[in-house]
Amino acid sequence: MAAKKLSRGVCLVGAGMSPFGAFPGMTTRGLFVQAFKEMLASVDKGADPKDIESLVIGNYSSTLFEGQGFTAPFMASAVGVLPIPAVRVENACASSGTAFRVGVQTVASGLADIVLVGGIEKESDLPTERVTDTLATASDTLYEIPSGFTFPGLYAALATAYMDRFGATPESFMKVGLKNHENGALNPKAQFGIRIADMMAKKKASAEKRGKPIPDWADEMAFLQDERANPTIAWPMRLFDCSPVSDGAAALLLVSEDIAHNFTDKPLHVIGYGLASGVATHDREDLTTIEPARLAAQQAYEQAGVGPGDIKLAEVHDCFTIAEVIATEDLGFFKPGEGYRAAEEGQTARSGPRPINTSGGLKSKGHPVGASGAGQIVEVFKQLRGEADDRQLPGTIDLGLAHNVGGSGQVCVVHIFERRQ
Ligand code: COA
Repeated sequence: MAAKKLSRGVCLVGAGMSPFGAFPGMTTRGLFVQAFKEMLASVDKGADPKDIESLVIGNYSSTLFEGQGFTAPFMASAVGVLPIPAVRVENACASSGTAFRVGVQTVASGLADIVLVGGIEKESDLPTERVTDTLATASDTLYEIPSGFTFPGLYAALATAYMDRFGATPESFMKVGLKNHENGALNPKAQFGIRIADMMAKKKASAEKRGKPIPDWADEMAFLQDERANPTIAWPMRLFDCSPVSDGAAALLLVSEDIAHNFTDKPLHVIGYGLASGVATHDREDLTTIEPARLAAQQAYEQAGVGPGDIKLAEVHDCFTIAEVIATEDLGFFKPGEGYRAAEEGQTARSGPRPINTSGGLKSKGHPVGASGAGQIVEVFKQLRGEADDRQLPGTIDLGLAHNVGGSGQVCVVHIFERRQ
């Protein structure tokens, strides 16, 4: 699939998100309003909602999660942009990454100059079993579900194939979760924004308060290896290998390149975009890679005229820790079979040569599926503009990438962003 050039340049000039977490009693509309307000506040020279010409909203399944089968005009109404065209885009967990692509297309085609892209999902009103069943509808209901798979099960299958082929261990994956909790602890929007060491201290204090035996974990790895502290969900994926059940929303403002400086002196140019689709797990030759991710990355790099070595930070789709390891290989940051070693060596930490998921990723920040792709772009926006506060990467961070996967890896959307000095 050859990469094609956009008809005109597109820039990201505003980005905001609600906190990610479990918010009983809060509505999706309320979360989107929070994200929208933060997005507007991030536009340095201001943006008038009246000038927004189109809304594209990513959402996996408000239908099943909330019994609300129709969303886009409600979101447009909630943020006061009626009567503009408002459409919902569904592409499983890649819904808002795909909505972003549709937003880019809308501006690039000249159909609109100013487009609002959103992502929303509210999962926590259902009990976990029903969330699991709802998320499983994003897998193949003819083959994967009848085989007994849930999402943790599907990614566990990828993990066992990867371990078998490359010699990784469950501990290799634990290192990914550990790193993402370190990052998420610096992100006030994160659902589980706590370091594992602090989690251990909290659990010890709670045991002491309740007069229970105080656990004597020697270090974080001992905690993560303790079945009681970190139970197996689908072997080898344990609790701290899984993204949580989350609610949240994100909002992004796209404009044509020629007017970007009316909004900010620090626009991000969208220079690469790729999207590819593939088969479900039962039809794959190889479970240790996600083919659509490799293809989407290839398109995005080609279009941007850059390679994996040029990217300063990436937000990748770590719905499970194994997914992050595979993503770093599919994106070409590491060779096949070397991603887990890189994670073990700390190469993907904030202080490492290849920072991945500085936001805390889906693991720590949270994974409200339809909002996750847009949420990743919020972090890229902040890092490239030097606005990521305590988790800001040092040096010149001029190229960032967002990688958003859907289903059991049947779709992947990749975007590359550039901050021009
Ligand atoms: N990571 C770390 N801790 C978590 C967690 C997670 N992902 N999810 C829940 N917890 C903690 C809770 O805070 C709670 O801690 P406490 O006992 O100290 O208060 C404890 O674990 C139990 O929480 P609960 O909400 O009852 O967990 P659960 O068993 O209902 O759900 C999972 C846990 C892993 C099954 C659920 O988060 C899940 O299904 N995750 C995967 C979601 C998914 O598949 N997304 C799509 C991916 S493509």
